[in-house]
Amino acid sequence: MQFFLDTADVGEIAELAPLGLVDGVTTNPTLVRRSGRDFLAVVREICGLVAGPVSAEVVATDYDGMRREADVLRAIAPNVCIKLPLTPDGLRACRALTADGAMVNVTLCFTAPQALLAAKAGATFVSPFVGRHDDVGFEGMALIEDIRRVFANYRFPTRILVASVRHPVHVLQAARIGADVATMPPAVLRQLFRHPLTDRGLEQFLADWAQTGQRIG
Ligand code: G3P
Repeated sequence: MQFFLDTADVGEIAELAPLGLVDGVTTNPTLVRRSGRDFLAVVREICGLVAGPVSAEVVATDYDGMRREADVLRAIAPNVCIKLPLTPDGLRACRALTADGAMVNVTLCFTAPQALLAAKAGATFVSPFVGRHDDVGFEGMALIEDIRRVFANYRFPTRILVASVRHPVHVLQAARIGADVATMPPAVLRQLFRHPLTDRGLEQFLADWAQTGQRIG
């Protein structure tokens, strides 16, 4: 399973990327606003920090505008992945851009039929949002299971990029289902490490070691 960071906070990415556990980054207009930074500059910096796909979202809603903005974003770095909304113009642009060799992440997916459309449009990734589904009383993970089942029937190459992840259980559930990627806020990646018994066990090991009076090297 690949782990992407869902953030436009360059400082967070710079801190976590050296762990070797960050396989890519996803941004969106809301995350860019929160960064308070220039969009193109942020994408350029992120592409220099992470070798994997860096999703940068167009804001045009028409095909021609999407193509124009995608050209600008693709010019930033070879690992830029163009993020497109799951709309008719978005999927038309998806087909054209993937045919032209671009990576495309089709976002704002909330149903399996939508994911099927994205796969037929040749999307590199499709981003079903689980947290926002949970927020309105639907089971976000049931959507992931449904999409996984549909894709397996036809061996679609489109990778399932679980998005709108709220906590470590979302990551675990997505992994149990066999989703390809989970994109998560930096805080969730940090939470994956945490368990009190790990902390307590390490403290005990170090205390016992100290009593040996020995050193390694
Ligand atoms: O960036 C796409 C998605 O992960 C955002 O989800 O619900 O946290 O805004 P959300």
